[in-house]
Amino acid sequence: MLKIAVIGAGRIGHVHAKTIASHPEAELVAVCDAIEESANALAKTYGAKAYTDANDVFTDDSVDAVVIGSPTPLHIPHLLAAAKAGKAVLCEKPIALDMADVDAVQEELNELTTPVMFGFNRRFDPSFSAIHDAVSEGKIGDLEQLTIISRDPAAPPVEYIKVSGGIFRDMTIHDFDMARFFLGDIVEVYAFGQNLDPEIAPTGDYDAAVVTLKGANGTVATIINNRHCASGYDQRLEASGPLGTLFADNIRPTTVRMSTKDATDAQDPYLDFFLERYDAAYRQELSLFIDAVNNGTTPPTSIEDAIEALRLAEAATESARTGLPVKLK
Ligand SMILES: NC(=O)c1ccc[n+]([C@@H]2O[C@H](COP(=O)([O-])OP(=O)(O)OC[C@H]3O[C@@H](n4cnc5c(N)ncnc54)[C@H](O)[C@@H]3O)[C@@H](O)[C@H]2O)c1
Repeated sequence: MLKIAVIGAGRIGHVHAKTIASHPEAELVAVCDAIEESANALAKTYGAKAYTDANDVFTDDSVDAVVIGSPTPLHIPHLLAAAKAGKAVLCEKPIALDMADVDAVQEELNELTTPVMFGFNRRFDPSFSAIHDAVSEGKIGDLEQLTIISRDPAAPPVEYIKVSGGIFRDMTIHDFDMARFFLGDIVEVYAFGQNLDPEIAPTGDYDAAVVTLKGANGTVATIINNRHCASGYDQRLEASGPLGTLFADNIRPTTVRMSTKDATDAQDPYLDFFLERYDAAYRQELSLFIDAVNNGTTPPTSIEDAIEALRLAEAATESARTGLPVKLK
């Protein structure tokens, strides 16, 4: 049993706590949140210890590994402290809000010896990973174009948007990682930001965006993002090559279709939001983290993946601001 602590008892902390508690090879031993009631409430649900200071988790000998779900500016400090204390780390994306924060600790990051994995959960979604497998096996020939559609059901509060680092670091970061997962090194980024929501525009952020990325071999990925989508959490992927196209569609709780005189083939709404839609992906992510820790193998996502996704987010931010493509290599 891998004894795991969750840092940050917020939205994603709840997802990870539930996933850990139900995993046959994991035990949730501690929950830490700066807000005592939050730590206590989540810890109590699973019979874990509650802490309000993350340093108490890092010095707790009963903890083998930590899952970091604290706010993004704390990811680097928590990651470094946990890993230096000998804990294996599964850290949420993004690694930071600013590349300068990464550059400042690059040497310390390079010296870490405990397993560190990043929470790019979408790589582990059963449909998206099946598409990745099919592309890797050459089923559609050499990948020519990848299309990633990712729209949230509703925008988060404006107060969240103000500190989120902007749509590219906060939301598109998952899609940048997915593009890298399929294309490898990205050499050029061209981004368009849209202001469709009048409440978000005054924050200086965009609430929708389209990004094109060119891989080193010329393959192009297109990312379509929107902070709101009238039809729900819209998560799709399409990969095309000379021999065919692979599609991953939205997921519904049932396959029931209803036809009436007003509409035909009406179905359930899509699974509501990330905790439902990516439930299987979070479970697979945790399983692969546990396997890597137990077997001493390299985790499937790395600090480098986290840094490169952030680099793409910064390039997209610059491209959207200047209206020009940004070359990376
Ligand atoms: N992979 C995903 O699907 C996914 C989904 C949501 C969020 N995230 C990422 O997870 C992180 C957290 O996002 P969230 O939506 O859960 O935020 P949240 O605000 O709901 O939760 C963050 C929690 O951290 C706590 N916290 C603040 N300072 C702390 C400290 N010093 N020590 C311990 N806890 C502290 C807060 O009190 C809060 O409960 C962000 O980096 C976000 O980008 C990832």
